[in-house]
Amino acid sequence: MSSHRELIPAPRNLVAGSGEVRLTAHSRLYADTGLEGVGHWLRTVLRQATGLPLREVREFGDPDDTEGDPEYDGIGLRLDPGLGPEEYRLVSDPSSGVLIEGGSAAGVFWGAQTLRQLLGPDAYRRAPVRRDRIWAVPQVTVEDGPRFRWRGLMLDVARHFMPKEGVLRYLDLMAAHKLNVFHFHLTDDQGWRVEIERYPKLTETGSWRARTKFGHRASPLWEEKPHGGFYTQDDIREIVAYAAERHISVVPEIDVPGHSQAAIAAYPELGNTDVIDTTSLAVWGDWGISHNVLAPTDNTLRFYEGVFEEVLGLFPGEFIHIGGDECAKEQWRASPTAQARIRELGLGDEDGLQAWFVRHFDTWLTARGRRLVGWDEILEGGLAPGAAVSSWRGYAGGITAARAGHDVVMCPEQQVYLDHRQHGGPDEPVPIGYVRTLEDVFRFEPVPPELGPEEARHVLGTQANLWTEAMEDTGRVDYQAFPRLAAFAEVAWSALPAPAERDFAGFERRMTAHYGRLDALGVGYRPPSGPRPWQRRPGVLGRPIEGAPPNV
Ligand code: ACM
Repeated sequence: MSSHRELIPAPRNLVAGSGEVRLTAHSRLYADTGLEGVGHWLRTVLRQATGLPLREVREFGDPDDTEGDPEYDGIGLRLDPGLGPEEYRLVSDPSSGVLIEGGSAAGVFWGAQTLRQLLGPDAYRRAPVRRDRIWAVPQVTVEDGPRFRWRGLMLDVARHFMPKEGVLRYLDLMAAHKLNVFHFHLTDDQGWRVEIERYPKLTETGSWRARTKFGHRASPLWEEKPHGGFYTQDDIREIVAYAAERHISVVPEIDVPGHSQAAIAAYPELGNTDVIDTTSLAVWGDWGISHNVLAPTDNTLRFYEGVFEEVLGLFPGEFIHIGGDECAKEQWRASPTAQARIRELGLGDEDGLQAWFVRHFDTWLTARGRRLVGWDEILEGGLAPGAAVSSWRGYAGGITAARAGHDVVMCPEQQVYLDHRQHGGPDEPVPIGYVRTLEDVFRFEPVPPELGPEEARHVLGTQANLWTEAMEDTGRVDYQAFPRLAAFAEVAWSALPAPAERDFAGFERRMTAHYGRLDALGVGYRPPSGPRPWQRRPGVLGRPIEGAPPNV
């Protein structure tokens, strides 16, 4: 069997024949009305990789368009309303070419990604490497569709900024793995990364820090150089449009009321000025949970409504993430203003105050036709029915949320935090948290057995999270993300059996083919034999997590 048929994520059904469809200089590409975007994408990537013209034709299988080529070998893209929105059927037949039919443009696009895998690793290159090579699609019928509608990746660009080109590249990598939600963690204590026109200091001041902790938060090491950067509004528009071309929606995260020190450094009046002198606060260079959180005042609410107004203009998707995690309460306990607000509104305590803060933006977003999503701490105060929860502190938050009728994205840190180390050995360059191997991720099950079928319908899907405290550049991100993101993609897309019954040996065999694709894409993954010498980083301290094995 051709290794090119070793698809990742695994399709629902694949029937292989013994023939092949050759793509040649005569091969044409046909796209139905409504599929111009997918056609443009597919022609662009295949032209780059193959050098073949793949001219556009008006009809698929029209013999007049084949210029007498005896073997019609075109690619056709068609809509089939009988298929579900993200479902596709790919038939590669020596007598009729390659036909990809989908229930929507997204379905056809996922089918086009499968076609690229079937063509072999060189189909991922940006220019042809062998002019004389034969491009062949093995004879197959693939019927496929996703298990979950939310197949997410979160990228933290606040702890370490990833320049726009890197973000676009990650969108391409997501698309190649049929992932479709990009959770863009844009603000945190350590940096504010999105231009907000009415508050220019958020990026002028809030996007740079003077120095950065190297290693986990107890590490004595500092990198004494400024770090930062931000995306202009046009950069964001470009990223969102680029994602949309790849059928990926972007969920922006503006983290409130904790994880806000960069915003307070830019606009000191946002902080608890009756507790500390916020005018001396800088963008944080350390890791962990900062005590410097937003003051629960009307001024803060109006300020962030202004931020969210611009965010809504930039991000057209259904969901807006408001963070809501790890809000330290010390300053609110000490603040007469915060305490007065708790009394006035009968909120009980600081947890009630946090819930009030989240509910304000829940109502505000709902009134504007959007849905709030937040980390599972937001469950602690009562939410509008449309609000959704990112369950990160294990499954518990997700179970509670689903039982209360809220939609859930399962992203437990014990399973799918890809910043955690992927091997127990001493060579792991960033030895943080739990050891979570490729096999562990492959055996991750997003729907816990505690949920009945009705409750489980609230699990929109799952998401892998990449926090970047210890990933200062794209190479480090690649190492942490891959190959585990390929296993995660299979969990999110494929209808796998129960964890213990999953065929990891089979997955590893398919990964042998997939490493070739990742190599052609230039992904700096962790090889199965361990990190390459330049990927090691002796002496960097990891971050201990309670209950996890001790760090090296
Ligand atoms: C989180 O990891 N604080 C969501």
